[in-house]
Amino acid sequence: MGRILIKGGVPLRGTVKVSGAKNASLALLCAAILAKNEIILENVPDISDVRVMIEIINSLGAKAAWETPDILRIVPPEKLNAGAPIHLVKKLRASNLLLGPMLARFGQATVALPGGCNIGIRPMDLHFKGLTGLGADLYLEHGCVCGSTSERLKGARVYLDFPSVGATENIMMAATLAKGQTLIENAAKEPEIVDLANFLNAMGAKVRGAGTDVIKIDGVPSLNGGVRFPVIPDRIEAGTFMVVAAATGGDITMENMIPAHVQPLIAKLREANAEVIEGEDTLRVCVNKPLKSIDIKTMPYPGFPTDMQSQLMAMLSVIPGTSVLVENIFENRFMVADELKRMGARIKVEGRMAVIEGVDALEGAQVKATDLRAGAALIVAGLIASGETEICNANFIDRGYHNLEEKLKTLGADIRRK
Ligand code: UD1
Repeated sequence: MGRILIKGGVPLRGTVKVSGAKNASLALLCAAILAKNEIILENVPDISDVRVMIEIINSLGAKAAWETPDILRIVPPEKLNAGAPIHLVKKLRASNLLLGPMLARFGQATVALPGGCNIGIRPMDLHFKGLTGLGADLYLEHGCVCGSTSERLKGARVYLDFPSVGATENIMMAATLAKGQTLIENAAKEPEIVDLANFLNAMGAKVRGAGTDVIKIDGVPSLNGGVRFPVIPDRIEAGTFMVVAAATGGDITMENMIPAHVQPLIAKLREANAEVIEGEDTLRVCVNKPLKSIDIKTMPYPGFPTDMQSQLMAMLSVIPGTSVLVENIFENRFMVADELKRMGARIKVEGRMAVIEGVDALEGAQVKATDLRAGAALIVAGLIASGETEICNANFIDRGYHNLEEKLKTLGADIRRK
């Protein structure tokens, strides 16, 4: 499972290049199934979630392979092989994003009920509501979601009870090849949704309104492919380095990023007294005065991202005063609190709320990553703690961060893999 050892207490300084976005890459790999011709994706992060998704689409009949360390060439399948292997799908929740593209292009889909990070119940009712609204027949059989449609999907009006990222993406992809117009109301507005819409449009789709509450899709008979498309930078990786800079009292400049995508985090770090300097595609975070406690509520974009909540918890655990975190997206996302407590943090969890009393310092300990962002939080904690921290289950971190240890080393961290 891998272990990471960190000797903490060093302010990290320097410049780091942000990789392509994990969540955008996963959606784009699924969308590639919709096309007829070859696609080149640039700025794709070489992380284990992306590798698993490549294996999954290849098992369905695509031919995806790395051309360079961050460029992927994908030849979409002409016909669909039988369902994706269960052991791969179970590793990756985002494999549910194959349902829409498979149904739209091939009229059938089988995807094992997906796995992924253990951060809540994570139902799929909104995906089902949207896809059945477009005319698909969906049912569960032996732990798999099976779907079929006897004729071309039909455009429809779909209202999402919650702006789910995955449901918006699945329905948007399915609707590109449906007959007529689809409206997704109360759609998710995350930057990854906009990136997916831009990619679909580059292939010939007609998607308007991505990034707002209502997305309008006029179905077309086919998508061509034949495009070269760069994936947006990873706002959560960038955000993690922003928190590392603030938490260690360092000075880090992130390159190849989009500051507009991390505005909620910028606002919160400024409120905590960190200095944030925005460039066009760079961002510098440094600390010139003592940090102070803050309260945070996670919300759908453009609210504060749930994927940054754990890293903030680690930082706030050593800031004087009381900070309150409210998690509104996933109901089981405070598991890292117990690990931080092993390092001396004072955190009380009550349902969806965590109350953090800042302590003078954290102490290195043996801790366990329970999910991807919990792993990132333990890295932040290890970097600020005195002594040595050993993080078990480091493979969770490899799901979403490209070369994290190397990047941290160049910033001055004492970190290694065991
Ligand atoms: C995506 C991201 C994940 C991020 C999350 C929220 C990917 C691969 N993953 O996950 O990193 O943390 O958005 O920003 O892009 N829900 C339902 N019914 C559904 C679908 C979702 O009730 O059919 C609920 C979920 O249980 C959860 C909330 O909606 O409470 C948000 O989930 P959603 O936005 O769908 O997250 P994902 O797409 O799974």
